[in-house]
Amino acid sequence: MHTIDRISQLRSHLWQAKLEHKKIAFVPTMGNLHEGHLQLIDRALEESDLVVASIFVNPLQFGPGEDFNGYPRTFMSDQEKLMSRGCHVLFAPSVGEMYPTTNLSLTLVSVPHLDSLLCGKSRPGHFTGVATVVTKLLGIVQPDVAIFGLKDYQQFLVIQQMTDDLCLPVNIIGAPIARAETGLALSSRNGYLSAEELDRAAQLYACLVSCRMALEAGETDLLKLEEVAQCKLETIGFKRDYFKICRQNDLQAPTLDDNQLVIVAAAYLGKARLIDNIRFTLTCRV
Ligand code: PAF
Repeated sequence: MHTIDRISQLRSHLWQAKLEHKKIAFVPTMGNLHEGHLQLIDRALEESDLVVASIFVNPLQFGPGEDFNGYPRTFMSDQEKLMSRGCHVLFAPSVGEMYPTTNLSLTLVSVPHLDSLLCGKSRPGHFTGVATVVTKLLGIVQPDVAIFGLKDYQQFLVIQQMTDDLCLPVNIIGAPIARAETGLALSSRNGYLSAEELDRAAQLYACLVSCRMALEAGETDLLKLEEVAQCKLETIGFKRDYFKICRQNDLQAPTLDDNQLVIVAAAYLGKARLIDNIRFTLTCRV
């Protein structure tokens, strides 16, 4: 595996592959890699001839008081994991390489109708930071496909919308959420939890599952279901952020005719802000 930290070097390195019409898959990450990230690499290997991963903790997507400085940085072990999983190129630029001006980015990319909802409400500016850095990374790597985990479902929709609207020639693929045996979605931020909190954290997924079951059993009072779940999470020790039943395509409240649903949740536990979701098709409504 080649590790490259300069944009110009990455471009020259990928030039030959592009001349040979090799299919390039890209997996952007912020490092501190877990099995969920490595499954994105597996998917990228299935989709392409050459896999490029990036590790870049993007300051533009962290708000004031958020965990940019404390975000776990585990470069050496990440590099080993990527190498042993079969990744071909690791792009690991510095902040100065990605944002040469002192203002971070002079051009911002935003997807206003999606980026102010849900996580965008509690983390203003977050999705503009994500959309901007992903646009830059896609411009640098110019992959045929890019793979994103569906745990960050809102992020996935923002990126899909942004690439469609800007006519970026890349196919965006969403990969299934990797979970621990308890059901807890794998996340770098799980590292902020104590062993006891990790056990409790699994209840976030359990609440999503019971909400889905209630909908499948014919419950139509969505606000009641959302409130029941929030109260249950608070009883377990979570601090509430949101728990919402939405339409899959635009995260708006579903009407009775919508059956492609996603239940999205974010909640604080100890030092961590955890997010999770389940997507499903509601087959019968009574
Ligand atoms: O999901 C992430 O790890 C980040 O938001 C991403 C897509 C790598 C952009 O910094």
